Amino acid sequence: MATEGQTLEQQLEELLDDEKFSPSEDFVEQAVITDPKIYEQGEDYEAFWAERAEALHWDTKWEQVLDWSNPPFAKWFVGGKLNVSYNCLDRHVEAGNGGRVAYHWRGEEGEELDVTYADLHSDVQKFANALKSLGVRKGDVVAVYLPMIPEVAVAMLACARIGAIHNVVFGGFSAESVRERIEFSEAKILITVDGARRKGKTAPIKENVDEVIGDLVDTIVVVKRSDNDAPMKAGRDHWYGELLEAADADCPPEPMDAEDPLYILYTSGSTAKPKGILHTTGGYLTGVAYTHAAVFDLKPEEDIYWCAADVGWVTGHSYIIYGPLANGTTSVMYEGAPDYPGKDIWWEIVERYKVTIMYCAPTAIRACMKWGVEHPASHDLSSLRLLGTVGEPINPKAWLWYWKVVGGGRCPIVDTWWQTETGGVMITTLPALLDAKPGSAGKPLPGIEAAVVDEEGNDAGTEQGYLVLKRPWPSMLRTLYKEDDRFVETYWNKFGKDTYLVGDAARRDEDGYFWIIGRIDDVVNVSGHRLSTAEVESAIVSHGKVAEAAVIGQADEDTGQAITAFVTLEGDLDGTDELIAEIREKVADRIGKFARPKRIIWADDLPKTRSGKIMRRLLRDIAEGRELGDVTTLRDPSVMAQLEGKIKERD
Ligand code: WTA
Repeated sequence: MATEGQTLEQQLEELLDDEKFSPSEDFVEQAVITDPKIYEQGEDYEAFWAERAEALHWDTKWEQVLDWSNPPFAKWFVGGKLNVSYNCLDRHVEAGNGGRVAYHWRGEEGEELDVTYADLHSDVQKFANALKSLGVRKGDVVAVYLPMIPEVAVAMLACARIGAIHNVVFGGFSAESVRERIEFSEAKILITVDGARRKGKTAPIKENVDEVIGDLVDTIVVVKRSDNDAPMKAGRDHWYGELLEAADADCPPEPMDAEDPLYILYTSGSTAKPKGILHTTGGYLTGVAYTHAAVFDLKPEEDIYWCAADVGWVTGHSYIIYGPLANGTTSVMYEGAPDYPGKDIWWEIVERYKVTIMYCAPTAIRACMKWGVEHPASHDLSSLRLLGTVGEPINPKAWLWYWKVVGGGRCPIVDTWWQTETGGVMITTLPALLDAKPGSAGKPLPGIEAAVVDEEGNDAGTEQGYLVLKRPWPSMLRTLYKEDDRFVETYWNKFGKDTYLVGDAARRDEDGYFWIIGRIDDVVNVSGHRLSTAEVESAIVSHGKVAEAAVIGQADEDTGQAITAFVTLEGDLDGTDELIAEIREKVADRIGKFARPKRIIWADDLPKTRSGKIMRRLLRDIAEGRELGDVTTLRDPSVMAQLEGKIKERD
């Protein structure tokens, strides 16, 4: 046990020896799910999920729980009808909870706004009518490019209300990425903002969009968030506020088929073209509502829940919008960065709103560790009772810091493993039932079957192998938008049509706990943000002076992985600092600032096999300073020695 006089560093060092952390008796006593039988119940997974689906409001009940007659194309709750916005709003208002706060919104400059369920219900109906009046119909795709403001929830729910399919693009993506995602999804309307606040500055979002959008969309709705004079094109562009004012107040929810699409969310895959993950209505809502309540031990009347992700990623879709609202939760929604106006802003927010459940990414925790314990220590964090992480493996040291400094040693931590594709959490520790092991996500949730298999698909025992999911689950992606073949090929070809290939390497220990190691494909995880190496490479070679580029994810203390780019220049050009800046800018323009390479290494040539394939594995070895393995399969083995020289020169 920690003794007085020890530094925090010493205390954490000592805790590193503890392999397991059990929830306290106090926590278990008050918890919602305390019967371990739930794991057994999950074995009969169709019955299990049907029971969870009962918690929603259905206009028409389903006839069949699961249709898996044409794998891997699953249909859940066949014949059932429901509306997601009804389940997230009307249901609570009708139950007399309209006055409950849905979001304590906090703006970057300290502005505060409490948005109640009744407020959302009213705005969503009006905006749904406005969308209709702009010609949006059931099945149309609506692109959304908004910062963390309440209007983003209104926009998403208004789409759900009328059966339009939203395609939200993370606000950190560049306008060019938005254009591309609009093109792929064939959206005819875009909802965006005049300017987005970031660390005291305003990014001219509408102007940036105008530069690239051409006549790709017929309509742009603009939310007013800043004082800049956004250019508005007559006939095409409309102010959100004016539309809302003019709109009819009543918009009955459209009864949707359980399998009607709810949204598309583009995410990075192995190639430069992002994948349009398609989620549908009944199964998705069942999955996120259940996992949100179970994993976070939610008590909607008491808890103040804060997921510090961005709505533009799947974590925001499932655990800022749909899960929490379906459960009638009071959440915090925060617009800004974790270090503006000060490095204690997160902890100020926890204290201010008496947050009880906090959910964030390991990268953010590592940043807070670096900024120093004085920031959390200067605020009262005693309201917290449960902590969560998502997006990347958490190193035990960051886990322990979170547990001790933020959670005061009283709050269980749930490390939640899942993906855009899975829709909701798949592997974690139900907090009152399982001990946590720092660095391991835990076990598959009830109803979910995961395994680690070898190259042939056999159980890998406790060896490292491919992480797979063995049964269909309600919130699974249904396909890649308009790319059924790519869907089958990416996820269901390696081990057969009933085994979902996750794309992560993992290990399962003797206790059945899963340890996620990282991606097996060319996807990089920077600060919990998914990026494809091919996407970044294609942005880099779009610079006129670049002949070729190879991008790898290099292990990084702060961001988990960081992007390192090996770049070959045209002709005999010399690499300069100026060129490095230009290349980084190019990536910011094409993808977004968060994708800029941390390190650029000039290469006269890249290591390639005789068939011309770049061997990224060798580049990773060299960047991370490992002994090089076999280089004899290279067309020109001397390339590696040259590169080694370059790296030494730079470091
Ligand atoms: C990684 C984010 C370890 C993993 C919800 C996965 C994790 C990818 C964890 C999905 C975790 C996510 N521990 N790794 N708890 N959570 N990952 O689609 O590699 O943005 O495949 O979904 O992030 O990223 P995505």
